[in-house]
Amino acid sequence: MRQKELQQKIKQLATDKGALLLAHNYERDEIQEIADITGDSLALSIEAQKTDKQLIVFCGVHFMAESAAILSPEKTVLLPRADAGCPMADMVTVEGLKALKKQHPDATVVTYVNSSAAVKAESDICCTSSNAVSVARSVAAKKLLLVPDRNLGRYIAKNVPEKECIFWDGYCATHDRLKVEDVEQIQASHPDALFMVHPECRPEVLNLADHICSTSGMYEFAAHNPATKFIVGTENGILWRLRKENPDKQFIMANRDMICPTMKMTSLEDVLHCLETMETRVTVAADIRIKARTALDKMLAVPRD
Ligand code: 13P
Ligand code: SF4
Repeated sequence: MRQKELQQKIKQLATDKGALLLAHNYERDEIQEIADITGDSLALSIEAQKTDKQLIVFCGVHFMAESAAILSPEKTVLLPRADAGCPMADMVTVEGLKALKKQHPDATVVTYVNSSAAVKAESDICCTSSNAVSVARSVAAKKLLLVPDRNLGRYIAKNVPEKECIFWDGYCATHDRLKVEDVEQIQASHPDALFMVHPECRPEVLNLADHICSTSGMYEFAAHNPATKFIVGTENGILWRLRKENPDKQFIMANRDMICPTMKMTSLEDVLHCLETMETRVTVAADIRIKARTALDKMLAVPRD
């Protein structure tokens, strides 16, 4: 089936079944094109919570669909590719986190939403790439365990120097791949461009940035900044909307290999199959869900930066 036909068939079936199609900013272009809403990981879960629709098709990775299921347990949340996980989320286990908590009983656990529901349930509060600093500042404890991203952790520690920070040694291979040399080379070829970068990148790379932000923060920065050229330090799926919303501006990847293998798994065929078969449903067991929800709710109560 041709791409356009496939897209139309999905849209029709989604309408017939009353489904809301969500796509993360890193999904393939043809998936973002048919989504009702595109956004960052947390924004999409909030949209899933807000909608009257009872069926959510979440084109993204597993932890995102889990977050939607935690916030809206009464809705049916489908993940078109059950095997689309987040390799960084898989770097922390409940057992490992429990052991670290035992070593630091006086610390508050601040866990990035890129984590499993079970790990969230062992955490005091969650954070996202867009509110990590505000969340860390809001915590009363002097000592923080920052899980699982060591790069986001170091970014928090730099901005919240009054806290003692302990880092879990996880990282996102897609963002950790970006090196200082890559950025300096592109900056030398485009001296008039601004460099915007995701906080999952290495600290030495963040030091070169004009703006550090979540994926959604990049859309805002690009739209409102008068500059016309931007170097982009995040997964390449972000380019589709940046270019669509800013046709007169130029966006250059800081490193062409910043492609998340699991974010790119979901195809149009998978989305159609998911709507036809209602598979795979993501649910979270009540005991885990209630504790994970507490950590998410505490984060949602923190005023935005
Ligand atoms: P955002 O929350 O900024 O969308 O990031 C999600 C993600 O997976 C980053 O690698
Ligand atoms: Fe996980 Fe990185 Fe992929 Fe985001 S880009 S889903 S953090 S592996």
